[in-house]
Amino acid sequence: MADDRPLTFAVLLGSLRKASFNAMVARALPGLAPAGVTVQALGSVRDIPHYDADLQAEGFPAAVTAMADAIRAANALVIVTPEYNYSIPGPLKNAIDWLSRLPNQPFAGKAIAIQTASMGPFGGVRCQYHLRQSMVFLDGRVLNKPEIAIGAVQTRVDAATGEMTDATTRGLIGQQLAALADFARRQG
Ligand code: FNR
Repeated sequence: MADDRPLTFAVLLGSLRKASFNAMVARALPGLAPAGVTVQALGSVRDIPHYDADLQAEGFPAAVTAMADAIRAANALVIVTPEYNYSIPGPLKNAIDWLSRLPNQPFAGKAIAIQTASMGPFGGVRCQYHLRQSMVFLDGRVLNKPEIAIGAVQTRVDAATGEMTDATTRGLIGQQLAALADFARRQG
């Protein structure tokens, strides 16, 4: 029997920039997800203080616990982020570090898809391997394929409207979200 349970995907954005290309990608996701999938943006990584074990000892910041609750409640997580210096942007890594210190940390067993976008030719693909490395330690279940690394992203959007307009990219993202839905359903 076909498994068509409704699913929720939470979206974690790695850029703080108002005119972020990755934010344009993230905003396109609700329109590209398969039927039965609701896409919900998580809070901004901007609201999470620098990781500090002394601060943690006083209690986890509300922005961290709220983000963790939303990830736990979702069937899958989509991380949409730029690459900084061939790696994970600091604010995103900081959020992952805080979330990882929670009891019942929210990445364990979670179906996760990674999407990166960059103005350069490689689309942030090197950041993806660093994210995958962290998610190995955190027992995240990262979808392997299709990979979404959007190079020359500035040519694939309408800068005036902030929309991701490139049909090929939109099609690939749709394929990844459909694969993530199958993957999440198989995780149970
Ligand atoms: C970058 N950028 C970048 N691009 C890339 O493809 N590989 C890289 O390693 C880096 N490194 C890097 C470091 C820092 C500190 C900055 C600020 C930028 C360029 C980056 O991809 C570009 O600025 C994107 O537009 C950033 O994503 P948003 O903010 O548009 O989503």
